[in-house]
Amino acid sequence: MPSYDLIVKNGKIITATDTMEADIGVEKGKIVAIEKDLASESGTTIIDAKGMYVFPGGIDVHVHLQLPFSGTISADDFENGTKAAACGGVTTVIDFAIQQKGNTIMDAVKARRAEADPNVCIDYGLHAAITDWNETTQAEIKQVIDYGIPTFKMFMIYKNEGWMADDGMLFQALEETMKHGGHIGVHAESVDVLDMLIERYAKEKETWGAYGHTLSRPCYTEEEAIMRAIKWAEATGGKLYIVHMSTGEGADAVHAAKERGVNVHAETCPQYLLLDDEVFKGENGHLYATCPQVKKPHDNERLWKGLLEGDVEIVATDTCTFTTEQKAAWNGDFRKIPFGMPGVETMVPLMYTEGVSNRGMPLNQFVALVSSNPAKLFGMYPQKGALEVGSDADILVFNPERKVTIHAEDLQTNCDWSPFEGWKLQGYPHVTISRGKVVAKEGKFVGTVGHGNFIQRKPHGNL
Ligand code: URP
Ligand code: ZN
Ligand code: ZN
Repeated sequence: MPSYDLIVKNGKIITATDTMEADIGVEKGKIVAIEKDLASESGTTIIDAKGMYVFPGGIDVHVHLQLPFSGTISADDFENGTKAAACGGVTTVIDFAIQQKGNTIMDAVKARRAEADPNVCIDYGLHAAITDWNETTQAEIKQVIDYGIPTFKMFMIYKNEGWMADDGMLFQALEETMKHGGHIGVHAESVDVLDMLIERYAKEKETWGAYGHTLSRPCYTEEEAIMRAIKWAEATGGKLYIVHMSTGEGADAVHAAKERGVNVHAETCPQYLLLDDEVFKGENGHLYATCPQVKKPHDNERLWKGLLEGDVEIVATDTCTFTTEQKAAWNGDFRKIPFGMPGVETMVPLMYTEGVSNRGMPLNQFVALVSSNPAKLFGMYPQKGALEVGSDADILVFNPERKVTIHAEDLQTNCDWSPFEGWKLQGYPHVTISRGKVVAKEGKFVGTVGHGNFIQRKPHGNL
């Protein structure tokens, strides 16, 4: 009789393509059997999933843990950020190693791994952010891809942080990554018009308060930058990924580009689907400042349509947590708000509630958006994002009946506020399993610090 370390029993297994009732047997961190009525031995851990859904663990391909940014450091470090992820049903995150100008990409990768490796509680990967195109950068791209980092990020803004990549760099990076099966993710906003508008509205900052953040970043600044990046992808044949897309216009541009065969994919985040810029008018409006900022209700609707119809294929969070104390640094000047929000802990239950429960999104599509598509596009499938014999036993047992109201104080994140405070959730993670180990139960972390591994991802990831 085969022996198992752990069996998930009696649940309804939902993957991106299949729905079935069966048990999952796990041994040494891998799924080794998917069958009805698996027999257990005395040492086997049994997770009873009766009445529950069994999903592949959530994957958030866009987090910034302990990121030095906006004059401070994001408040969820690798330890607590990955604990928060586990509590929210996420079993893999991808963070960023940001090159420093004049240095190599691999310097940044090594430094980031030294921060992350001993502390992560679930598996993680890194994207490499290219901020400089010096004599070694082009030659390094293949080396970085071979190392297990096939996805790069370029910021079309953030001159002051020293992170901005100009169009020439973007063009060359698209050419070079394409040769080796990599892709370029872009933070797409039009820097020159944006910076001009920011200074224009800053002259009246007392009048506008936090709403100045949104006035200075009209939708066309994202649309124009997305269209420009798409043009460079089209010209080079490179593969482009639009990160944290916030506008309906962006979704239209991606749709049109896909129609004409451009190799482009897009991600959006729960905040762009669920919040609109009225939040900036509230007493604590500055807390919601992130780049790009949340937009209008019609953008929410266009992005939902994009998700349902395939223009937008991935949901991630852009988690970049700043506490109320850190956000207070703005002191009435919208230019000084640390930009970013918490998100990884609430992504899966929010998308289930708002997508599946409230909008009738098919369960298989929900799994595709928060798990399988990210695994495929980012070179981890079927090790991650799948429930197959041979896959890592990254499993989310999800209780569709559990009702939870979001309160920051109940969450694992170090953040003392939530953009979704008071939101009512239908369904919540019951048990999160990372490579065969139970790491969270009922939203509380029960795993081990350092359990997470760095994932060496493969090139040529595709949907
Ligand atoms: O405001 C944000 N999104 N902060 C994190 C950095 C980025 O642009 O992704
Ligand atoms: Zn960004
Ligand atoms: Zn980001």
